[in-house]
Amino acid sequence: MLALTYGCIMYLGIDIGTSAVKVIYTDGTAILASATADLTVQSRRPGWSEQDPGAWWTATCTALTEVSATVPLSSITAIGLSGQMHGAVLLDAHQAVLRPAILWNDSRATDDCAALHTALPEIGTIAGVLPLPGFTAPKLMWMAREEPDTHARIAHILLPKDYIGLCLHGALATDRSDAAGTLWLDQATRGWSVDAAQATSTEPHWLPHLADGHEIVGQVTQQAADQTGLPKGIPVVAGGGDAATGAVSLGATEPGRGFISLGTSGQLFVAGDAYHPNPAKFVHAFAHTVPNRWYQMAAMLNGARPIAWLAGQLGISAGDVVALAEAADPTRVPIFLPYLTGERSPHGDPHIRAGFFGLEDSTDRAGLCRAVIEAVAFTFADAVDSFGETITDLPHLAALGGGSKSPFLLTLIASATDKRIARTAGSDAGPAMGAARLAACGLGAMSLSDLGQQPKIADWFDPIADPALEDRLRRYRMLYLTLKDLR
Ligand code: XUL
Repeated sequence: MLALTYGCIMYLGIDIGTSAVKVIYTDGTAILASATADLTVQSRRPGWSEQDPGAWWTATCTALTEVSATVPLSSITAIGLSGQMHGAVLLDAHQAVLRPAILWNDSRATDDCAALHTALPEIGTIAGVLPLPGFTAPKLMWMAREEPDTHARIAHILLPKDYIGLCLHGALATDRSDAAGTLWLDQATRGWSVDAAQATSTEPHWLPHLADGHEIVGQVTQQAADQTGLPKGIPVVAGGGDAATGAVSLGATEPGRGFISLGTSGQLFVAGDAYHPNPAKFVHAFAHTVPNRWYQMAAMLNGARPIAWLAGQLGISAGDVVALAEAADPTRVPIFLPYLTGERSPHGDPHIRAGFFGLEDSTDRAGLCRAVIEAVAFTFADAVDSFGETITDLPHLAALGGGSKSPFLLTLIASATDKRIARTAGSDAGPAMGAARLAACGLGAMSLSDLGQQPKIADWFDPIADPALEDRLRRYRMLYLTLKDLR
């Protein structure tokens, strides 16, 4: 099977996630080899979330070594990048990393968001979403205030995947979908907003070159080839933020296509052909990674992460949490608010925290597990609601990310959102596959309209009417409203 496909053109998709780097080797359709290398997140203070960019590069090299045990890296013709969005990678004039990257789920810049809104009231319309601390720009305001010496040495700013681009090809570049998550992109014109940069302690010339996701922004250098075993000189395309590359893997470049993503974070994403800001509900209106496309996205900071969190606390696997939840007595399930790191859509609330409510003497591990899994489903019910009318026409939602491996979770999401959920083969590797497809497009092996091709659906999950689940969703929503002012 592999021997036959070596005659085809092979691509590499690299996704810099939060919990792992994932690398896939593909002909643009099937995944022929893949590897992941785990990452850890450092939280030196409450609300902080950081990673060392050097750890992303080390993990990328580790995953490439593993892939090279199965397939020859010399057969790769182009590389596409995908990554966690919004993280601030700060470099000095020699392109050296100045401090750990401040990530998308870091809330230290909460006060700076209010200051930005006052200084530039039109920021929500320019940037497609109201300021929240996870976005990149408020992190620079925090740096100017709290780490002025380091701030004074900043010469370049990159997003996480673009740092791996720098390691591979030596150029300072990003794509428009990742730039969209900084608050510095003027979403309507798809260029940097000098006003937004100047309002956030950022020199416009620190920002990288902007490209569309399929544009070639560099070639693998001799140094990177020596470190990784990749062929020197092969092109690297700009790629996209993980939401947009996930979309590309599903053909959600065509207007009206939507999907949900169940990774460390969660997203409800719908592609469109025009810019429609809707900042009130913290729905993000961002530039897509392909030209002339935008998307609307509800972004949930907690996604499927609470499942991994509970598994860690109970000393069991995420699969065990799902199995226990399935076996729980549904009449004895407490309510869980999943806001471990605050929440973006639909609350825009960096202060809220997670908690169980309704514990009884008889509550057992299975009940806790079911409450956590239901909460993940309920965040998607809130996401669908925050889109309002615009989402009623969507016939179904495709599901991506690690959480999409669980039929139990997907059925609960279908029931809580009242939408059919579709799953394609390889749904857990979506963003890396989208990055590889952008590489194929950069080489001219796929056209921009080919990116709209949708993979075959392998499984369907239909809503099940369940009045008890509906009642728990109602109580879950009331619980947030009741607790939101409790700090
Ligand atoms: C999107 C978001 C997450 C991160 C990490 O707005 O914050 O998708 O990209 O996955």
